[in-house]
Amino acid sequence: MQLKIWHKMIIGISIPSLIAVVGGILTYGYINDVKNRQAYIEIADDLKESVLEVRRNERNFLQYKNGDHHKLIHISLSELTTSLMGVSAGTAEQMGGGGIILLQSAMLKYSDKADNLFDSYNNEQQVINSAKAEGEKLEAIVSRKRIAKELTPSFILKLRLLEKNYIFYRDRQSYLEMSKGLSLIKNMTPMCLDCKPYMKSINRLFDAYRASDTLVSDLNLVGSEMEEVTGRLSFMERQKINSFVDRTQNLLLAALALLCVLGPLFVFKTSKRIVAPIKRLAEITLKIAGGDISLRAPIKEHDETQSLAISFNTMLDNLQETQQSLKESLELLNQKQAQLVESEKRASLGFLVAGVAHELNNPLNNITLTAETMSEDLKELSPEELNDYIKDILMQSRRAHTIVENLLDFASARKSTVMEIQDITRIVNDSINLVANQLRVNNIKLVTELPEKSFYVNGNRSKLEQVLISIFTNAMQAMKDTGTLSVKVQPDTDNKNIQIHIRDTGHGIKESDIKNIFEPFYTTKPLGEGTGLGLSISNTLISEHKGDICIKSKMGEWTAFTVSVPLYEEMAASHKEVAS
Ligand SMILES: Nc1ncnc2c1ncn2[C@@H]1O[C@H](COP(=O)(O)OP(=O)(O)O)[C@@H](O)[C@H]1O
Ligand SMILES: [Mg+2]
Repeated sequence: MQLKIWHKMIIGISIPSLIAVVGGILTYGYINDVKNRQAYIEIADDLKESVLEVRRNERNFLQYKNGDHHKLIHISLSELTTSLMGVSAGTAEQMGGGGIILLQSAMLKYSDKADNLFDSYNNEQQVINSAKAEGEKLEAIVSRKRIAKELTPSFILKLRLLEKNYIFYRDRQSYLEMSKGLSLIKNMTPMCLDCKPYMKSINRLFDAYRASDTLVSDLNLVGSEMEEVTGRLSFMERQKINSFVDRTQNLLLAALALLCVLGPLFVFKTSKRIVAPIKRLAEITLKIAGGDISLRAPIKEHDETQSLAISFNTMLDNLQETQQSLKESLELLNQKQAQLVESEKRASLGFLVAGVAHELNNPLNNITLTAETMSEDLKELSPEELNDYIKDILMQSRRAHTIVENLLDFASARKSTVMEIQDITRIVNDSINLVANQLRVNNIKLVTELPEKSFYVNGNRSKLEQVLISIFTNAMQAMKDTGTLSVKVQPDTDNKNIQIHIRDTGHGIKESDIKNIFEPFYTTKPLGEGTGLGLSISNTLISEHKGDICIKSKMGEWTAFTVSVPLYEEMAASHKEVAS
């Protein structure tokens, strides 16, 4: 897939955010449900409270059995109905429709039972009154006449007491005792007609009480059912809230865990994907910085780093091209420099040859003179004299040979550019020899101050000679026909250098021109006499020897050059050892 960096970043950030958002939405939904459920709990609690109120009124009604308390039951029932009416169908559905419907039907049943009980209580009162009246009648009959032997007024009184107890307590004990009393009457006088109405009324009282008791237990049952339904509604709502809270908690935990695990994972993966191509670029840059310019950045990604890599590679292509052309230019420059060195050398040679030709004349004249003398006086000469002449000719020949040799040596014999250990004092000496004749011809006095021992430098003989000849030539040209050239070789042991001081008493250099004299092609000499390359080339050659050239001059009086070249340390050290 071709993803840009910002695509990767959006994916990396949006997936953890999505988890957080989904978790948040679900949690919000659950909290909303909890809020609704709280309203349902309030409704359920209201209903429960109303039912409890009904039950409280029920207890009072059972105790006082009067119309007022029966009415209170109905008032509380109608309050309950109002509460129920307030519950919308939707809410009822949400709260578990069954519960509300059950409550409604139980309430109707309860109302009926309460009414029936009220009727039963009213009936009870009539039955009690009639039982009491019949009792009084029987009591009166017994006190007037003896119906049966056992049926005494005291028995009747006892029976009436049982009757009172039963009416008042209406419990099982008093019922059993009352039943037993009635059985006794039956046993004593099975045919007692006067007793029958009383017994009948007591039996009716039994029935009335039984009917009421059944209704009471029915009412109680329905009441409990109502209580149970409302209790269950409230309990269920609370349970639902608890489960919502649990679910929210679990959801939050799950979202948190997912965020903790996936969040860093996605961020890590994304940043890795973003950083990887940059890292690859950095690595390749490091290698290229190390010198391998032929390397190229891989174009793997399709994001913003791709164009970076492409530009980077284009830059490298250009750099490589530039490097190549620089290399070629440098080669060309070296070639040109060599040509310039050569041309300056030829110029110096031209200057030297004039002097050398003159110098060669002397030995050649001497040889000719000696040879002529020998040919004229050959017969008169003794073998010893002949030997002296031949020796003289040989000496003159060797002199001519040395002169030519030196010139050849400077001109071409050592074209090698190899740097090797050189005796600098000897090089200075040989260079002086090359210009010695020229000095003589030009009437220039030479003052040298060369050390007796050798000093060594790591250098190229031909190049060092060319520098010295160049400076000597300039000096001679500045002095024209008279003056003094001083050459002094002096070690500067502090800086581990050897210094060659060359001083002339020529016309000197203008202070403003000093900065120009090392410029290539700068010359103050007429055409044919100067190329303007001598000092510029000398400067380059001495730089190759890690040395330098200093110049001081006083216009119209003198000019002094100091060439400094580092001493070859090992040689210097070994010489020190030898000396010690
Ligand atoms: N010893 C010197 N005395 C006076 N001027 C000098 C001396 N050496 C160099 N110069 C000045 O420096 C210039 C540059 O010298 P150089 O580079 O050798 O070129 P060229 O000798 O061909 O003119 C000379 O033209 C001259 O003006
Ligand atoms: Mg010159």
